[in-house]
Amino acid sequence: MCGIVGYVGKRNSQEVLIEGLKKLEYRGYDSAGVAVFTQEGLQVKKAKGRLAVLESQLGDAPLLGNIGIGHTRWATHGKPSDVNSHPHTDNSSKFSVVHNGIIENYIALKEELIEKGHHFVSETDTEVISHLIASLYEGDIVKAVQQAVKRMRGAFALGVLTEYEPDKLVAVRLASPLIIGVGEGENFIGSDIPAILEYTRNVYILNDYEMAVLTKESVELMTIEGNFISRELFRVDWDIVTAEKAGFDHFMLKEIYDQPKAYRDTVGSRINDAGTAVELKEIGMTAEQIKQLRNVHIVACGTAYHAGLVGKTVIETLARIPVETDVASEYRYRAPIITPNTLVIVVSQSGETADTLAALREAKRNGARVIAITNVVGSSVAREADDVIVTWAGPEIAVASTKAYTSQLVAFYLLGLHLGQSLGTVEAGEVAEIIAAMKQLPEQVEAILEQSEAIKGVAEQISTHNNLFFIGRGLDYAVALEGSLKLKEISYIHSEAYAAGELKHGTLALIEEGIPVIALATQETLFEKTVSNIKEVTARGAFVIGLANDGDEELAKSVDQVFTIPRTLPLLSPALSVIPLQLLSYYASLARGNDVDKPRNLAKSVTVE
Ligand code: G6P
Repeated sequence: MCGIVGYVGKRNSQEVLIEGLKKLEYRGYDSAGVAVFTQEGLQVKKAKGRLAVLESQLGDAPLLGNIGIGHTRWATHGKPSDVNSHPHTDNSSKFSVVHNGIIENYIALKEELIEKGHHFVSETDTEVISHLIASLYEGDIVKAVQQAVKRMRGAFALGVLTEYEPDKLVAVRLASPLIIGVGEGENFIGSDIPAILEYTRNVYILNDYEMAVLTKESVELMTIEGNFISRELFRVDWDIVTAEKAGFDHFMLKEIYDQPKAYRDTVGSRINDAGTAVELKEIGMTAEQIKQLRNVHIVACGTAYHAGLVGKTVIETLARIPVETDVASEYRYRAPIITPNTLVIVVSQSGETADTLAALREAKRNGARVIAITNVVGSSVAREADDVIVTWAGPEIAVASTKAYTSQLVAFYLLGLHLGQSLGTVEAGEVAEIIAAMKQLPEQVEAILEQSEAIKGVAEQISTHNNLFFIGRGLDYAVALEGSLKLKEISYIHSEAYAAGELKHGTLALIEEGIPVIALATQETLFEKTVSNIKEVTARGAFVIGLANDGDEELAKSVDQVFTIPRTLPLLSPALSVIPLQLLSYYASLARGNDVDKPRNLAKSVTVE
């Protein structure tokens, strides 16, 4: 969702901006633009569509200069178009702004500025910012930005240039991510680290209400009140190659294949040498505080929410604490009962999802302890939570989340065991058994990946349909929801996930000859009941693809096609059963000729509510 890049230094800034924006493509966008300070002054070029469109325009008429800002836009206010693309300028074209977020009071500001004689050309909230800064400018761009920011409500990360001070790039953030890259004789801004990693590994992460003033020789950090901040540089130790496709056709496929490593890395050193206990040192809660917990709320969006559904069963099973799960956009508005004895777990791959962040803040306001499960060290969610369990999945670029989801499951297994150990609700033998089974997961995933050709064949078959169903019971139902979301996101095939036993209460009416139904039956205690539900759909002509454990001969007799996963403990089976569903979605999307990594209308990191 909107990507920002900015550069000041000695290079041709246009190239740095375009390369940086390419690294942010995963966030989702529909148009792109750059502003560069050239010999003719501040020049802007922007275009609807993919970066390649802008790139070819810049190829024909390059903007030459050493300072610039660039942007990929994911439309919120106003349709995707050339004119609505960023950067936006004021009427004098002396100020240029890129923005990620939403200015909630932009209409009032716009009316005020129109009265003062400003003319607007776009439908965006961002254009108001460039005019506002221009109207407040009295010879000091830093002061003008500070004053403008104080008048703006909402969420923003901004990059600002003015022709009057052509050596300066000003950046500021409130609620939308922004990082500063520090190089030698050159400095950068970016929405995310990959944008600048080619040039430097030294980064400052801006907090809310903080700004940075960059010249090619210096970076000054300050609050929006103008108080200087001294902060240690954050050294990025992961490799850019990890963030590249590494020979795979798509990031999504690479990330599916990254999962054995992500499992190993996320478990990492969080288990003792003997394999008898989990050691989650990052959880600061004492055993006494854990005993005081009365309930747990798991709050997240999208795929992370689906990981939370598995987390609910894991925590209830291992720690015997009641758990509620909520999608973050609903949580605050249902007046949830949060007390100081509530543990709120927020789950977010990016750590920047606006709804999840707002839920976290609501939980803290009500005195709850907050644990974040996130893939991004230093993200907003990570910084605001009391404790953070980092999932070591590495950067996830494809919009459809895969390895982040499975790593979140691992985080829940570790946390469930940690809580269970503290509460004495899980026996030592069971802890060791679960740990042993977790250690086998990476190899078991590899075994599933070997079936990818067969899964591809079925994916091609279902790719010609417009509707299908996923069914399952218990944890299989939680995974069915994720499988269905994955398929919708990238193949655009409509699908619904149903608790298998609920199908007959309405949805069975939609089962007709040939409709694909993907039936998950990995939960031993529910196996027979699930088979009965499968019979209900086969009797009505459905084409059923079953998912069972290795050795479950029975399912094959009741379905048209069967895939199996290696046997594990029932509680751990989501960590395996989701893998064939990820592959199924990937190949169905491919068969339909879709843009797998950048599905239409979706963004990787949703920083607006
Ligand atoms: C977006 C992405 C989803 C993701 C959701 C939550 O909608 O497209 O893939 O699951 O946001 O993101 P988060 O970063 O909070 O896990």
